[in-house]
Amino acid sequence: MAASAKRAAKTPEGEVPIGPTGRPYQGFATPPALDGHGPARIISLCNQKGGVGKTTTTINLAAALAGYDRKVLAVDFDPQGALSAGLGIQTHDTPTVYDLLLDGKRDPYDVIVHSRVENLDVIPANIDLSAAEVHLVNEVAREQILSRVLRRVAADYDVILIDCQPSLGLLTVNALTASHGVIIPLECEFFALRGVALLIETIDKVRDRLNPTITLDGVLATMYDPRTLHSREVLERVVDAFGDDVLETVIGRTVKFPDASVSGMPITEYAPEHAAAQAYLRLARELVARGAVA
Ligand SMILES: Nc1ncnc2c1ncn2[C@@H]1O[C@H](COP(=O)(O)OP(=O)(O)O)[C@@H](O)[C@H]1O
Ligand SMILES: [Mg+2]
Repeated sequence: MAASAKRAAKTPEGEVPIGPTGRPYQGFATPPALDGHGPARIISLCNQKGGVGKTTTTINLAAALAGYDRKVLAVDFDPQGALSAGLGIQTHDTPTVYDLLLDGKRDPYDVIVHSRVENLDVIPANIDLSAAEVHLVNEVAREQILSRVLRRVAADYDVILIDCQPSLGLLTVNALTASHGVIIPLECEFFALRGVALLIETIDKVRDRLNPTITLDGVLATMYDPRTLHSREVLERVVDAFGDDVLETVIGRTVKFPDASVSGMPITEYAPEHAAAQAYLRLARELVARGAVA
């Protein structure tokens, strides 16, 4: 079997197994403690396709980084409010990111809530946010509104993760304009790459016109099932398309994620020993090793 022939590679450190992306699968060291906190690097989790693991990744990456003593702010930027719900945050009758977008004078700390996870704060969202695009369309510098909000709190965090909605509209452009980097989660399923060209084009436009330094921090393969040929083939095509921009950490498909979201907890707390929790911890270490996070 070809796969078994690829199982190990000689490196200066000895034999290292080959990971699903075809590169040596290394552990990544535990991130060193930080001397101080902030200013935050801001990362958008972005893909206009729904159901690819944006929210799941935002929640669990945020919790994993918080577990490594990074101060993390997760921004729910989807009117569905799935990030808020997945972290057990009630959004009925409370101020949300929508209030910050509409009123530039509003103090972000009126809206930020501490999650149950230590070091992890959240700017929640609810369905009100669906009206934001209409309200903001006539604003001056309408693409920079979220950026201005986050600038006021960035000093207090090491990393800010923005969970984008599944569209390339004004909210997503706001998220990209506010961000230093972007992570694109891709589901290892049929049509994973459909629409990605348009997403890359949007990021390029934002870089040209609004945010010259935005970088692609990585493409994250999610819902990978190594037992199916199909999943392996999709991942291979993703690696062909993005090369070393594909993060070495791959998130496997498991029912633990739906279970954890129902419980309102990140998987790193719900089932810390589970392979999926370990995968997100590893993703956090990889992003620190790549310099995407302090
Ligand atoms: N690795 C995974 N394995 C199995 N199910 C997953 C995985 N990641 C996410 N899910 C589930 O898939 C659905 C869509 O994931 P979600 O993170 O909400 O995607 P998005 O935010 O891109 O729409 C959710 O029900 C979630 O629990
Ligand atoms: Mg989502």
